Amino acid sequence: MPELLIRNARIMDPFGGCGGTMDVLISRGRIAAVARELQVEGRETIEAQGMVLAPGFLEIHAHLREPGGEDAETLASGLEAALRGGYTAVCCMPNTRPPLDNAAVVEGVAAKARDLALADLFPVGCISRGREGRELAEMALMHASEARVRAFSDDGSGIGDSGLMRMAMEYVQVFDGLIISHAEEQSLSRGGQVNEGTVSTEMGLRGIPALAEEVMVARDILLAEETGCRLHLAHLSTERSLRMLREAKKRGVRVTAEATPHHLLLSEMDISGYDTVFKVNPPLRTLNDVKALREALHDGTIDAIATDHAPHTVEDKEVEFDYAPFGMVGMESSFPVLYSELVLAGELELMRLIEMLTSGPARVMGMQPPEYGAGIVEGARADLVLLDLENEWTLDARRFASKGRNCPFHGRRVKGRIRCTLKNGKMAYQLAEAESA
Ligand code: DOR
Repeated sequence: MPELLIRNARIMDPFGGCGGTMDVLISRGRIAAVARELQVEGRETIEAQGMVLAPGFLEIHAHLREPGGEDAETLASGLEAALRGGYTAVCCMPNTRPPLDNAAVVEGVAAKARDLALADLFPVGCISRGREGRELAEMALMHASEARVRAFSDDGSGIGDSGLMRMAMEYVQVFDGLIISHAEEQSLSRGGQVNEGTVSTEMGLRGIPALAEEVMVARDILLAEETGCRLHLAHLSTERSLRMLREAKKRGVRVTAEATPHHLLLSEMDISGYDTVFKVNPPLRTLNDVKALREALHDGTIDAIATDHAPHTVEDKEVEFDYAPFGMVGMESSFPVLYSELVLAGELELMRLIEMLTSGPARVMGMQPPEYGAGIVEGARADLVLLDLENEWTLDARRFASKGRNCPFHGRRVKGRIRCTLKNGKMAYQLAEAESA
């Protein structure tokens, strides 16, 4: 396996490796040395002066659509998209066809991803059989399988039956499993298209009230408190959800939460011309909610940024607003938009952003080395991302590796770009020479 030398990179490692400007030597898939001015000759060399080297990112919420939705995304296209976005590990959601609700299907998906040898894949299993919300799926068997499923969710739908959710929380504690809640009370959200409020009224569309999320956030926090289960709240979007989360954390409830780039950067005011690219669940909320999310990111109430990468075909999205599916792609735009809109705007430290894409999600999922998170130290697997913070460019969804083109940031001028992603020491993605200036 060829050796590779990265020269003069600014190292930012939330897992506790060294900082400063260093040379990093990679050999046989691992980090062989991290030091100033390494004296090695004849290696393939990347001059990284002015660039940041970080651990490969961890995506904990992506829809890769396989099996059953391969026209929208495949494991191959989704994991390729991950690498282009700087992610070396991905947790995929189980709302596939058939759903990932038993050991055989999760093992099949995990084995296929292993053969692809792109980014690492960690399937999330269903809470309920068939995602129907009626009886528990084979959670323990999925956990005991080779896919070693550690997190469960019926993402895409909330679990309406509180008794079932309580049972799931009691059940997964046997193996310290994680319950990921898609907090949506369907009796409040049914038929809704955008956030309920002035925008839904102006657009003449049925609204999804903030309450639909908040009622279930409240319930799931209570259930987690009662059962002692680890609970993770997916894609939180409202100010009151954050308030409840903050209070629950203070009380010692084992609860974590993620925010998506689109809920952090866009509001319902950005929905223009009935463009279905902006149709997402939970919906884009008010400016006040966006502000609250950013504060929560800043003060540590939010534990991780996850994209909720949700590709759909152009044919599926190019219909009337009411008929379009919910979802946006996110893995190839997340770093540049977050860096441009939050870090360069002075709202967030770069190190904090990197934490939210690496150590934060690892803590949520309970991932430890060697699985993920060994950091930038000698002997660690070389799963790394090199960030060119000076590269200014225009996001173009047509050039994504993802099959999804439904990116709300398409056409945006951004600064900050993935220069390359290394997986097991190999160049898994590299920006074309012409674009790296
Ligand atoms: O917008 C969304 N799309 N939200 C979800 O919860 C599911 C996802 C999908 O699967 O398309």
